[in-house]
Amino acid sequence: MKLTIHDDVKKIPYYPKAMMYGFDEGWVRLSSNENPFPPSPKVFSRILDALFYTNRYPGGEAELKAAIAKKFGTAPEQVLIGNGSNELIEMALKAMKHEKRNRIIISDPSFAFYAIAAQIYGYEVRKVPLVDMRVDLGLISRQIDEATRVVFLNNPLNPTGTIFVQEDFENFLKAVPPEVLIVVDEAYAEFVESAQFPHTVKGIAERPLLVLRTFSKAYGLAGLRVGYGIGEESLVAFLERTKQPFSVNMMALIAAQAALSDSAHLKKVLRNNRNGMLFFSKALKELPVEFIPSEANFLLVKLGKEAEGITKRLFDEKVIVRWMGAYGLPDFIRVSVGRMNENKRFVEALRRIV
Ligand SMILES: Cc1ncc(COP(=O)(O)O)c(C=O)c1O
Repeated sequence: MKLTIHDDVKKIPYYPKAMMYGFDEGWVRLSSNENPFPPSPKVFSRILDALFYTNRYPGGEAELKAAIAKKFGTAPEQVLIGNGSNELIEMALKAMKHEKRNRIIISDPSFAFYAIAAQIYGYEVRKVPLVDMRVDLGLISRQIDEATRVVFLNNPLNPTGTIFVQEDFENFLKAVPPEVLIVVDEAYAEFVESAQFPHTVKGIAERPLLVLRTFSKAYGLAGLRVGYGIGEESLVAFLERTKQPFSVNMMALIAAQAALSDSAHLKKVLRNNRNGMLFFSKALKELPVEFIPSEANFLLVKLGKEAEGITKRLFDEKVIVRWMGAYGLPDFIRVSVGRMNENKRFVEALRRIV
């Protein structure tokens, strides 16, 4: 009999312990844009091998850098590994600290951690509103002045799932002075289908630019914490000075390498995402409920004044989604694409409630 990915995991003797942390079958967790599948089976076998070496400090960062460099056609020296891309966001802020230039620019809304980390490191945060739920790079570049040190762009944007395109990005690169570091966080890039999605890595030689990616989303390693950045060699060396030795653990390094090598598994994940998106769009249109078309693995859904209450009622039905009040979008929820049975649970529960 052919096992599904999920059944494979159940065969591992330690799986039931996961129940203690709420990964119970009855719950549908669509609130954190996680991958609904366990990682590639290759990850499991490599991690089990690695367990025998946990008396040693982590090795494997050089190998992971080499594998990433090969994938992107860069040199390994242009790759930075972090404890999740969150660590790389912090490293950028630590390294770029400057007496006179002390402001970061982000879109509003955007991924919450940029502002949180900026406040920890004593930066002022300037927020630039979206236009039609999209990042407007022209508007952002006009906000840059002599106090600006770092601009964080997120493409596709969490929480809207919208993207900015190649042409706008090229113009943006020309408009921003070299004293400003541009960070493009592409945590959801693997899910993008649009041909207009920018080739950001090509721009790293031109100016200070750091492209962030993560193994937490499409590769399903959120619990292990590993992300990477790509930038010009001297920028990478400069940022790396702020990194704690061994900040990425051995399991994460080994798992990331194994995950990267399994393109067939990645394809399955992306196919599930595409089917889930098609299912959501059809079902929400039928309800009818408004949503923002998304290039990522989540969807921003407009529910109006009842959005918070509906989130609570979905929770009562064991379906967890994210109310967007904290992002300044109180009329919206964000729902991640799950497995098809989970997507159906969400839509059925929503249908009963609205
Ligand atoms: C835009 C964005 N960047 C970064 C992250 C964090 O990624 P990591 O798990 O690699 O720290 C997330 C997580 O939700 C995200 O949405």
